Amino acid sequence: MTHTDPIRVACIVGARPNFMKMAPILKVFREHGGFAARLIHTGQHYDVEMNAVFFQQLGLPEPDLNLEVGSGTQTEQTARIMMKLEQAFKAQRPDLVLLVGDVNSTLAAVLVAAKLRIPVAHVEAGLRSFDLDMPEEINRLVTDRLSDLLLTTERAAEAQLRSEGIAATAIHFVGNVMIDTVFANLEKAVPVAETLAARGSDAEIARTVAARYALVTLHRPSNVDDPQQLGGLLSVLAALSERIPIVFTMHPRTRARIEAAGLTGLVDRPGFFAVPPLSYFEMLGATRDATIVVTDSGGLQEETTVLGVPCLTVRNNTERPITIDEGTNTLVGSAPSALEKALATALSADRRSGKIPELWDGHAAERIVGVIEAYFAAKQNE
Ligand code: UD1
Repeated sequence: MTHTDPIRVACIVGARPNFMKMAPILKVFREHGGFAARLIHTGQHYDVEMNAVFFQQLGLPEPDLNLEVGSGTQTEQTARIMMKLEQAFKAQRPDLVLLVGDVNSTLAAVLVAAKLRIPVAHVEAGLRSFDLDMPEEINRLVTDRLSDLLLTTERAAEAQLRSEGIAATAIHFVGNVMIDTVFANLEKAVPVAETLAARGSDAEIARTVAARYALVTLHRPSNVDDPQQLGGLLSVLAALSERIPIVFTMHPRTRARIEAAGLTGLVDRPGFFAVPPLSYFEMLGATRDATIVVTDSGGLQEETTVLGVPCLTVRNNTERPITIDEGTNTLVGSAPSALEKALATALSADRRSGKIPELWDGHAAERIVGVIEAYFAAKQNE
């Protein structure tokens, strides 16, 4: 590489939560001109509604390469991505591999890049749930340990990374790039009444629901894979649907588990609107206008915080503590009885207000690209 060559960056995405993080970074790379960014899609998520619709709405370019690995066990999926990525990286020899988030595609990519001694930048570094039962926690630990640039969303992440022995010079607090995407698309958010009507609800009913509803998403293995746990949570939600309508956007694995466990009776009832995974614009509108959000997602904890919507997180821990300390998030635990109690409290209390965390300001992508540029400028001078 000479100083006139563009910096070749391999940008890796695989699963739905990666797309909204990568889109603003790719845009800044394109505008900058000093980078040749290539987008590689592992194919971890492949359904139109988990994948293609996000590319289209977020203005993501067609991937330069799609590895089409599909689903499998944790190991199968990771291994398939690794084998195909090794070939791609050997052929292209990127100057940098850019990773976002904590999905299996992130883990596979960092292992391959590190073995080929290609520098890695990790966006969303230093978040920890301290719960190794979550596959993502293993992915986070390994990715951060092997990354050369650690780009963080909140200040506490730096102390965590330092405590794990990461050099301070490698850590850069850049803010939250997923929030860049929230702010950039708020005007295009689709009102939930339209979303429900488009999924077959009567227009009048959809308008009534839109006035006051709970938005629910649950897809973590810890909540949906065990029929007893899933049934317990769904029973609480079924009872809730008699007080406030529920809009439940269902991840394909959740729908499959509900059907396999014979629990469809709990969601198939008036006041309970189970819909397939929504597009980005639909989900943004559904979140913004919700009375309350019930979720086990990582991203939604952050999105509700910037949108000022109360969020009940159905997990025993969160890797995003700032959403509790400063935002609108409450950690409920995973017991169905705890959810029942938290719902009663949240729905009778005044709407909880929070503040928007530092540097969740819509400009994280510019800072990320700035850090990468400075990294290569310093290398030139070595
Ligand atoms: C993955 C991420 C998780 C993230 C979530 C968002 C890991 C370890 N987990 O979990 O952090 O919150 O994405 O959605 O990477 N499936 C489909 N169609 C698809 C994709 C998946 O039907 O397009 C089904 C398959 O049955 C598959 C299952 O969903 O086996 C799980 O998919 P997978 O990518 O393994 O993990 P997620 O649960 O989606």
